[in-house]
Amino acid sequence: MAERRRRTAVLISGRGSNLQALIEGTEKADARAEIALVLANKPDAGGLDHAAAAGIAHEVVDHRDHADRETFERHLDLALQAAEIEVICLAGFMRVLSPWLVERWRDRLLNIHPSLLPAFRGLDTHRRAIEAGVRVAGCTVHFVRAEVDAGPIIVQGAVPVLSDDTPDRLAARVLEVEHRCYPLALDLVASGRARVEGERVRIDDGSPALLITP
Ligand code: GRF
Repeated sequence: MAERRRRTAVLISGRGSNLQALIEGTEKADARAEIALVLANKPDAGGLDHAAAAGIAHEVVDHRDHADRETFERHLDLALQAAEIEVICLAGFMRVLSPWLVERWRDRLLNIHPSLLPAFRGLDTHRRAIEAGVRVAGCTVHFVRAEVDAGPIIVQGAVPVLSDDTPDRLAARVLEVEHRCYPLALDLVASGRARVEGERVRIDDGSPALLITP
């Protein structure tokens, strides 16, 4: 008998291409997670259309409708609990979460960041990578900690930086590898094969957790 799939929520603010990759990843017969809920903090987040097209429950929790961060996060948390969510994926969710929410979902809360962490935390990663002259760029899926863009690394994807790269061109190639890394990371977590041990992620069966794009 197939094992029960972990009920997963994806939190978005924008176009939702990583959400779409996660939806496609969980449509596979042997997937260990299902996307049970999509939450957006902006009513015009394009990714809501992906949720609707896939028949996935989706809701807008607009931070601007809340007096402060705490009431916004309590609303998010209630929606997550009501849907019996077990794992959360932040996918282009542009709100910093408070230590309260991060700790509540510790080791069940994932984020994707468009750099090889711990390099280039924060915004504008591709321009900064090009300006720094690095030869390899990429993305990181990690468990979220209160410190922004930090936490135990689950999967990384690497792409070469080309001599004529612009931030947009590099971003497009990194995005392709993001779309492979996030479904892999969710599968590792949902299946229980990726576990945090001493603030590093151990992958029980030795599955590769590095994807490289030529
Ligand atoms: C991605 O580059 C992701 O790494 C970053 O925000 C972007 C979201 O893109 N956190 P999308 O909404 O998934 O298309």
